[in-house]
Amino acid sequence: MATTSDDMQWLWPTPILRRRMDGHGPINQQLLTEFEAVRNELETGHRGRVFASPDDLHQRIESPAMKQLIQFIMDGIFAAASQANRHVWPRKQGIQIGFTGLWFQMTNGHGFHETHIHGNCSWSGVYYVQAGDKDPDGNPQGATRFYGPYMDASAGGHADAGNAYLQAAHWDSPAEDGVLVLFPPWLKHTALPYAGERDRVIASFNAVVQAEGGRREGWGFA
Ligand SMILES: [Fe+2]
Repeated sequence: MATTSDDMQWLWPTPILRRRMDGHGPINQQLLTEFEAVRNELETGHRGRVFASPDDLHQRIESPAMKQLIQFIMDGIFAAASQANRHVWPRKQGIQIGFTGLWFQMTNGHGFHETHIHGNCSWSGVYYVQAGDKDPDGNPQGATRFYGPYMDASAGGHADAGNAYLQAAHWDSPAEDGVLVLFPPWLKHTALPYAGERDRVIASFNAVVQAEGGRREGWGFA
């Protein structure tokens, strides 16, 4: 098998962080109860296949479980942002992390979320509160599918041995209880269909990361 050589550049990697919360079981149970309460309050008519809450959960729900979720998310964002910016950030600086939106989504009945990107933030993420059930064939459902730039490149339709690497156009983050996946908001993604006894329940968010004492754009282009 060939190895890469020094005269080859591999540029612009896509930073994605995935980590599981320790002791997520009781926290997720509490979150489910709180999310159901929000849904019951706001949803009129019959129970739909997909329900998305308002994006103010970080202000709407003040509970120990929500505080623990927010802390876990913020720790993850700090880990991801500090690694992604390791060549840019100064050795010492204060960092403040906030949300421009935090919401939940409940899905069933083969509901899905078509390919989209996020905006108004520097990091986005999904936390799987309840992954739900496997399909009747025993396969996992409701993964978050991310599409890299090869998806656009392969739309040209030319496929041969020279560009076989373009076939790896997407990556699936499996839905697993208590797992957080963080990604850059410009990255296209889809929530794959889900149907089961239980709902698939996720919390989603858009986050901003600001250097203390600095402007939002604390670094510039030369
Ligand atoms: Fe999304």
